[in-house]
Amino acid sequence: MAPAKAIVANDHVGLPEGCKDTQLTNTIPVSNVKTDTYGLEIWEGTLPIIDMGGLHGHRLSDTIKQLAHACQHYGGFMLKNHGISEKLLGDIMSTAREFFHLPEEERMKLYSPDPTSLIRLATGFKDDKQNVFVSRESLKFHAHPIEKYVNLWPTNPSSYREVVSEYCVAAKRAEITLLEALFEGLGMERKSIDQILDNHGQYASLNYYPTCDKSNLGLTFGLRGHTDPTIITMLLPDEVPGLEILKDGDWVPVKPIPNTLIVHVGDVLQGLSNCRYKSLLHRVIVNSETERLSIASYCYPSNDTQMGPPKEPIDDDHPLIYKDYTYEEFYTTMWKQRLPDAARLNAFKISAA
Ligand code: OGA
Ligand code: NI
Repeated sequence: MAPAKAIVANDHVGLPEGCKDTQLTNTIPVSNVKTDTYGLEIWEGTLPIIDMGGLHGHRLSDTIKQLAHACQHYGGFMLKNHGISEKLLGDIMSTAREFFHLPEEERMKLYSPDPTSLIRLATGFKDDKQNVFVSRESLKFHAHPIEKYVNLWPTNPSSYREVVSEYCVAAKRAEITLLEALFEGLGMERKSIDQILDNHGQYASLNYYPTCDKSNLGLTFGLRGHTDPTIITMLLPDEVPGLEILKDGDWVPVKPIPNTLIVHVGDVLQGLSNCRYKSLLHRVIVNSETERLSIASYCYPSNDTQMGPPKEPIDDDHPLIYKDYTYEEFYTTMWKQRLPDAARLNAFKISAA
């Protein structure tokens, strides 16, 4: 194997351990993969499969181009060879399952309706206006820098702090490596990348989707259609289907692939890329037979990040769409607007001035 190569000499880059310079792992059924005109392998007509091992060797520049193509044309990708061990993926899922199987009164000790809480349990709720029930229960918490937050986390189950810390650190390491590559693919300058990634934040969520009575299936969602207000979101699903993405006007299921993460472009990356990359509209449906879990790691920039796109992606074909604004302004505006998707960014369009 060629020596691991950092994308850019810089202290953000952590090489995910165990990244291999390999082709598709044999856990991915080849019959479910078709190649698009760009040469990307597409999983069941949904998202491209990107081999993160390609960021650490002679395939670096090709892999950066693949990432750019995936974000531009699909809004996300399935990520294999991400460097997070199979054992850790199993451990975080078991810990999350154990947490959601604790008695309700134990879980509810963490309940808070306040979205600014540093850790909070959010429960399912009825949306009276649309007459639907949104059934996800989630434990959401800040995770970077980990020393600042770990003492707020539960100690029941007893493995929680150790396993969740290990997973969050590993997920963040992979996210930063990906972001370096994505920003480089956008032609951003080093100082813009540093500004975004210095003091960036990580928020994570353990998501639990209970089974739903057959009679209520039509009126229940795990999560309704939305985009994430993040740079990227890295999702570890369990083996139960449920995630759907909007593709050419239809909701299509993204079947999980073992040991493979799902990465979504979030609104912040849409803004930073001057709309070259579009954030991915997705939702979760539930079923009457099997509960479903997922672990999400949401990556966001430092508050002072200048979100007006740096001038690099701008040319005659891509006129400037957004004015200058900071991530903090985006975040504050988002909570006031209460919109579910990238329409949140419209307030920052030059034409809205
Ligand atoms: C989210 C989300 C999808 C899932 O956490 O924002 O969309 O499959 N999760 O749990
Ligand atoms: Ni989401």
